Formats: sequence, structure tokens, C-alpha cells
Amino acid sequence: MRNSNSPRTYRVKSFGCQMNVYDGERMAEMLDEHGIAPAPDGEDADLIVLNTCHIREKAAEKVYSDIGRLTKGDGRNPMIAVAGCVAQAEGEEIMKRAPAVSMVVGPQAYHRLPGMIEQAAKGKRATDTDMPEDAKFAALPRRRKVGPSAFLTVQEGCDKFCTYCVVPYTRGAEISRPYTDLLREAETLVDAGAREITLLGQNVNAWSAEDDRGRRIGFDGLIRQLATLPGLQRIRYTTSHPTDMDERLIAAHGEVGKLMPFLHLPVQSGSDRVLKAMNRSHTADSYLRLLERFRAARPDIALSGDFIVGFPGETEEDFAATLSLVDEVNYAQAYSFKYSPRPGTPAASMDGQLPREVMDERLQRLQAALNRDQHAFNAASVGRTCEVLVDRQGKKPGQWLGKSPWLQSVFFEGDAQMGDMVHVELAEAGPNSLRGRPLEIVPA
Ligand code: 5AD
Ligand code: SF4
Repeated sequence: MRNSNSPRTYRVKSFGCQMNVYDGERMAEMLDEHGIAPAPDGEDADLIVLNTCHIREKAAEKVYSDIGRLTKGDGRNPMIAVAGCVAQAEGEEIMKRAPAVSMVVGPQAYHRLPGMIEQAAKGKRATDTDMPEDAKFAALPRRRKVGPSAFLTVQEGCDKFCTYCVVPYTRGAEISRPYTDLLREAETLVDAGAREITLLGQNVNAWSAEDDRGRRIGFDGLIRQLATLPGLQRIRYTTSHPTDMDERLIAAHGEVGKLMPFLHLPVQSGSDRVLKAMNRSHTADSYLRLLERFRAARPDIALSGDFIVGFPGETEEDFAATLSLVDEVNYAQAYSFKYSPRPGTPAASMDGQLPREVMDERLQRLQAALNRDQHAFNAASVGRTCEVLVDRQGKKPGQWLGKSPWLQSVFFEGDAQMGDMVHVELAEAGPNSLRGRPLEIVPA
């Protein structure tokens, strides 16, 4: 039952990975459905959902300082919900330390948010960090508001237990969403205007499920089926683990035209010694050979990766092996991070934790190499023609932004609209984006 303390407006603030962005969108849709409206830009909201990330840095501290800022005694006391991975990892602690927080809800339980809000309106605080399998997606409302490029979570959780990573503890064991549910959600996304779908999962390529006749479908089978949706033009996926890659997914890159020529495949380090200590179950060489197979199937594939510098015990020689792997791969883009000890993970108590200055200096050298390669990749694209899916309006009138098949940001001036697929010639390259010259527009 709603009462006078029930919030009328909300704001969801998502931090961290794309899976959190997806969860944030789903929470917003659910709040809409329950008669709570998004707060207009620049206005305070009655309910703030902090959809937190726990993967790196002082995540919990950031949450407490956000809470402090939201309750700074200006008379407004919004209802605060803490969601996401910090909620999962430190729920009870947050409830104790931050009386201003009304509810804590983990990533597998956020479908219960509306009930918790009603309780909070009656002054009852609640924590829900259960991990029921599968209950969440069935309880969420149908997708209605989506842009030209939409996310679809197909798999959640991780069984890999890399020794630095908190995800297996915050997101739980690997689960794959049912095949028919995904086909249905993809159809509603396309009906709602999506022209590109990015399939999401912590180990998305580990996805596998049965179809309605009990036959096992692998991740490539899901992609092939989605490619038959007439309104869908592009399919992407992220993030993959090298160990779960199979021949059929590699082959799909050569055979499915709608599957974009892009692969995000984290490696973390180029040193086998460090990879072993990280429990990565691949070597630098097996990773490089895997990339070769993708390149054989799809010669123009753009490669991306994740790196951690300063893992406990990483020597200068180990780090040099990472730099030489980077030289060998020629990444189109990549993410790199300083190692951050996560409470409760094996690496946090390993010997050989490195000083911050060493990590800073290695990160700088790695990023210089990655930036150099990203710029070179963009420069090599100049002169190519390709399609750009328009997903944003630029700051200048008549300016539009979108992504190339290789996930580069492309801006151009012309007569387009959101969702158009514009044929452009890539005319000029910067480190982070390219300028395109529009040739032809395929209307949305
Ligand atoms: N410290 C630094 N980076 C980390 N990542 C995961 N855990 C940590 C950590 N403890 C990085 C990895 C992963 C990406 C999502 O975040 O590179 O692939
Ligand atoms: Fe974390 Fe490793 Fe699982 Fe990725 S594969 S989520 S880095 S444990």
C-alpha cells in the first residue's frame, strides 16, 4: 500500500560494468511500473538507488561518501537504496554504519525492490541479499524503453575464481538464462526500437541452455538464432573467458554477418607465472593462439582486452612480458587497471603486495602502449567505408555519433536521426574517435 511517505520520483545511479547498467535499466523499468517516475534532470529525487560496483578501489568508501552527500542536512532526506555488488558483499555492515539507508538489495534480488520500498515508507528497513536462481528475470516487467543499442543479460555469475576477483562472491555461481526467455526478450527489445543487441554476462561465452525440444544450444547457437530476427542488425557480446571459447563460436564470427567484428577477451597479464598465480587457466601463448583462430575466421576482427598491473609478486620481467604481449596483439582498444586487493579474495593475502608508485609507473607505461595501438588502429581505418549506428546526438547542431562495426566512436555532420544506420567514409582519426563523411542513410 502506498502512503504519504512513498516516493513519487526516483533516480538510479549505476557504477561499474555493463551488467550493472542493464540491472539499473531494469530497476528503472520496474519502478516506472510501480508508479514511481524518473526525477526530471536537475531535480532532487524522493528515492535514490545507488547501484554499486565492488570490483576495484575503495568501492565501499565511495558508497558511504555518496550517502553522506545525499543527506547533507539541506532538509531533504531522500529514501536511499543501496544495490549492486557492494550491497551483496557488505549489506549488513552498510545497514549498521549508515542509518540513512532504508534498504540494501543484492544483484539477484532487486525484483523485490518495490515491496521493500513500501516497507521503507512505513519506516521498516530491510536487507535482501538472497541469490535465488532465476527468480529475478521472471519477475521483471516487459522491456519498453530502449535506445538503438540495447543490452541483454544472458548469463550471470562466475565459477572461475581468479584469485584477485570478487565477482564469484558477489554475483554467485554461473547461471545461464533460459533460451526461450532470451529469444522473447530480444524480440521485445527489437519491437521497442533496438537495432543492436549486446549480449552480456561475466562469462558470456559459457552460456548454454536447452531449447523447447530439449536440445542443448551453445552460445554460437543463441547468436545464430538471434541473427534471424528481421529488425535486428547487429549482435555483440561481452565479456568472454579464454577457457570457454569453442570452435563453433569462432566459426560464427566468419559466418554470421550480423555478428560484429569485435572481440573483448581479457588476458590480465602476459607472464605465465603471474597468470598461474591469478588462477587464469590459460598461458600467454594459448591466448595468442586463440586470437589467431579468431583472426583466421574474421580477418578484420578488432581486439580488446583487460589488464591488471602490479598483481602481488609481479616483477619487472613479468611486466615486460605483458608489454611484449601487447606489442604482439595490436589491440584496437583495451582496459587496464592497477591491482586492488579485494577483501576475502586469495590474492589480498598473498606475499609481495607492490607499492603504489610501482603500480602507477607500470600502469602509465602500459597505457602509453595501449593508447599508441588504439590510435594506430583508428588511423589505419581512415579511408574505409562502413556503417555507423547512430545512438547519440552531438553537441553541435546536425552532429551525430555512433559506433562503427569495430566499436569505434564515429561522429559526422548530416541529416540523420537516432537509430539510423549511416554509411560513412572514415575521414580522420583521433585517439578516441573518428570523423566520418556520410555517404548514405538507411532510415530507422
Ligand atoms: N584489481 C584490479 N582489477 C581488477 N579486475 C577485476 N578484479 C580486479 C582487482 N582486484 C579487472 C580485471 C577484469 C575487469 C572487469 O576488472 O581486469 O577483467
Ligand atoms: Fe572475475 Fe575471473 Fe570470473 Fe572474470 S573470470 S569475473 S576476472 S573471477
